[in-house]
Amino acid sequence: TAQGFSPVTTLGFTPVAKSLADAVVVPAGYTASVIYALGDPLTAATPAFRNDGTDADYDNRAGDHHDGMEYFGLSASGAREAGSNERGLLVMNHEALTDHFLHVSGSSARPRPAAESDKEIPAHGVSVVEVRKNGSTWSYVQDSSFNRRITPLTPVELSGPARGNTLMRTRYSPAGTGGRGTINNCGTGYTPWGSFLTGEENWAGYFTRGAADDAARADRSVVSLQRYGRTQGAASRHGWESSGADDSYARWNIGKLGSSAYGTDDYRNELNTFGYIVEIDPYDKSASIRKRTGLGRFAHESASFGRLVAGKPLAVYMGDDSRGEYIYKFVSNANWDAADLNPANRMAAGDKYLDNGRLYVARFNADGTGEWIELSIANAAIAGYAAYAFADQGDVLINARLAADAVGATRMDRPEWCAVHPTSGEIYYTLTNNSSRTVATLDAANPRAYSDLKGASTTPQSGNVNGHILRMAEAGGEAAASSFTWDVYLFGAQFDADAARVNLSALTADQDFSSPDGLWFSRSTGLCWIQTDDGAYTDATNCMMLAGVPGNVGDGVKTTLSYTKADGTTLDVATYIGKKPSADTLRRFLVGPVDCEITGCAETPDGQTLFANIQHPGETISAANVADPGKYLSHWPGNAGYGAGGATARPRSATVAIVKTGGGRIGT
Ligand code: FEO
Ligand code: CA
Ligand code: CA
Ligand code: CA
Repeated sequence: TAQGFSPVTTLGFTPVAKSLADAVVVPAGYTASVIYALGDPLTAATPAFRNDGTDADYDNRAGDHHDGMEYFGLSASGAREAGSNERGLLVMNHEALTDHFLHVSGSSARPRPAAESDKEIPAHGVSVVEVRKNGSTWSYVQDSSFNRRITPLTPVELSGPARGNTLMRTRYSPAGTGGRGTINNCGTGYTPWGSFLTGEENWAGYFTRGAADDAARADRSVVSLQRYGRTQGAASRHGWESSGADDSYARWNIGKLGSSAYGTDDYRNELNTFGYIVEIDPYDKSASIRKRTGLGRFAHESASFGRLVAGKPLAVYMGDDSRGEYIYKFVSNANWDAADLNPANRMAAGDKYLDNGRLYVARFNADGTGEWIELSIANAAIAGYAAYAFADQGDVLINARLAADAVGATRMDRPEWCAVHPTSGEIYYTLTNNSSRTVATLDAANPRAYSDLKGASTTPQSGNVNGHILRMAEAGGEAAASSFTWDVYLFGAQFDADAARVNLSALTADQDFSSPDGLWFSRSTGLCWIQTDDGAYTDATNCMMLAGVPGNVGDGVKTTLSYTKADGTTLDVATYIGKKPSADTLRRFLVGPVDCEITGCAETPDGQTLFANIQHPGETISAANVADPGKYLSHWPGNAGYGAGGATARPRSATVAIVKTGGGRIGT
């Protein structure tokens, strides 16, 4: 089979129309088959999934809300073979839950029955699942010895500069060197040495602390907790802490409850052990899982490596997905050695490149340039920060958001995935949307604040509703560069919105999208795959996936957007809009079923199979409506013939494998 990189310059498929159907729609000549859905058994002994709320044992089943995903090739004998197109491991995140469908009659009120928490907790985390191709048909291997679940209770190591830090000392690990599990795993990464990276995103919301906890603490941890979204008294997402005194439940209450050595008789530091990029060796169940603290603690999405250059440091690009949060990069101290493409010990390679380095945050300038600012305790702005007294470099990494505040980084419109173009090395970031963006806080890199979807109103409204895709080019193409240039690859918009103020990339009806989120470059075709997680345009279309052939930073034009401020005066914001797409360089490729998000993208090395995740179809359901299938918004994939329940099935998050009839690379 043809393999290797051969870039595509003109898209070769018929664009898919916007769709409200409860189905996965792909272009003529393609098929999308469901291969792995919520609840699918991962051992020979695990019963088939009934999908009626009576299933348990999620430690041995696919978790919920499939998200970011990577493909790891396997040889016929079961060894690592990165180039394998017929057999591999899909490793994917299970970000969150449509919790009502895990139970017979929906999710219960507080206190939560332990039996319900015992289903919900392990339905989070990560799956490793073997997949095989037979003819042109993919399926997962139920009894593969590689199959594995990693959950919020799986032991992990804390690795890197914050390992053993005072702020990491917990009841579980008094030395501050370990933690229990991973949660709300969203974007992913594929390391050059063949391991999987998973980003912990909205972890903070799973925890609660008492209404008087600030006073009980009376130290700088209050500033940290508030900055990371855990104000005292805020409820936890699922109420697991109310299920009992066992550590597996009690740990979700992070209030200061104990009295002796700090953090060792209560859970007050528990939150500091979440919020990292986590490295997993998918080929080796015995290898420890490591949270790479050097890459900082925030609401992580993907982790994308810059181009590999022998003898130069590695760069890892990352985003913090919350309104007004930042773009980061990590630069390794170690220089790249191509022998590490296939090392004897993958986690040792991770230790080498990811545990020692420097973390930077981005500042975007109005002239199309920007700077990377190092987050170092040696920086006077950090060491002398009035709002929070950092103790050491570990504290800077654990509280990276506060350190980035101290140095005046640029507040972005929710950085979701980032991805690096395989030949240019330019770095692309989806900025999904930002309801908090106002005219008063506009800047060149976040220049849009109209909530008027059709362009009928001339009154500026709060919010970047449709999002945009930013891209950056490092100075000299160097991973360790301290400056870059940038522009906007695409602005999301409805095709019929005002071209001068909203549809700034002149998207047509075959190209229009809103709220870009998943972003991934094919290592075969170089195509840019864009996935959406939208609420603004879902009256016209379900969420989707598009393929793009992007140009380069600086190929477009500087454009001035005029706004009327609250006081009636005019504000001009100049931005840089990349070359507008043509019908050959941007097309809608897939539309998903009702009430879903499309996220997670991986391919076989020959570019002939694309895997994508359909997350939470029909998630909008109340407990009261669980008993009535007529009230479900989606029945996918049961209505596509997958699993029990058929056309009245409860909806399930699932992975699809997309192939071209008769073979050929996807998108060509
Ligand atoms: Fe889980 Fe920001 O998406
Ligand atoms: Ca996302
Ligand atoms: Ca999103
Ligand atoms: Ca989602």
